[in-house]
Amino acid sequence: MDRPNAIAPDELVQRHARPGMSLVALLHAIQDDIGFVPPDTVAPLARTMNLSRAEVHGVITYYHHFRQSPAAPVTVQLCRAEACRSMGTEALAQHIEARTGCRFDAHKHDAHAHDHACDGAVGLESVYCLGQCALSPAMMINGELHAKVTPQKFDALLAAAMKRVEETV
Ligand code: FES
Repeated sequence: MDRPNAIAPDELVQRHARPGMSLVALLHAIQDDIGFVPPDTVAPLARTMNLSRAEVHGVITYYHHFRQSPAAPVTVQLCRAEACRSMGTEALAQHIEARTGCRFDAHKHDAHAHDHACDGAVGLESVYCLGQCALSPAMMINGELHAKVTPQKFDALLAAAMKRVEETV
């Protein structure tokens, strides 16, 4: 286990497990608590929910919401769903990757992977509809919603978010 001051995986699962609770609800509770669902909770989750490890892993990786490693200090969640795609999200995604040196959804492919050009300060995640379809393209940066995002607007939002992070260090 490589999390500082980490709670044991079994304890983390038992802290949130309730009778009759669904696996998805339990995953939400864990992520709401510590910010992600650690890979080492898969085994205790499987035991608690009477499922196989493969089933638990499948649910975690199926839902884009769940992350298996802590979020980057600046986390960009870009909507890749239909309405936003029709308004240029994919070109915006290319701009964002070029601008940050990071790849979208790298954290989903390997919890410990990151690109050489990506220093870990920024994380890029795809999401599917933020309820802002009439104001697409839409994104969230550290949980804050932004609509009608252009490459220029993204650059300004990113600079502001990076500045806020630097001020809190
Ligand atoms: S499709 Fe992007 S906000 Fe709905």
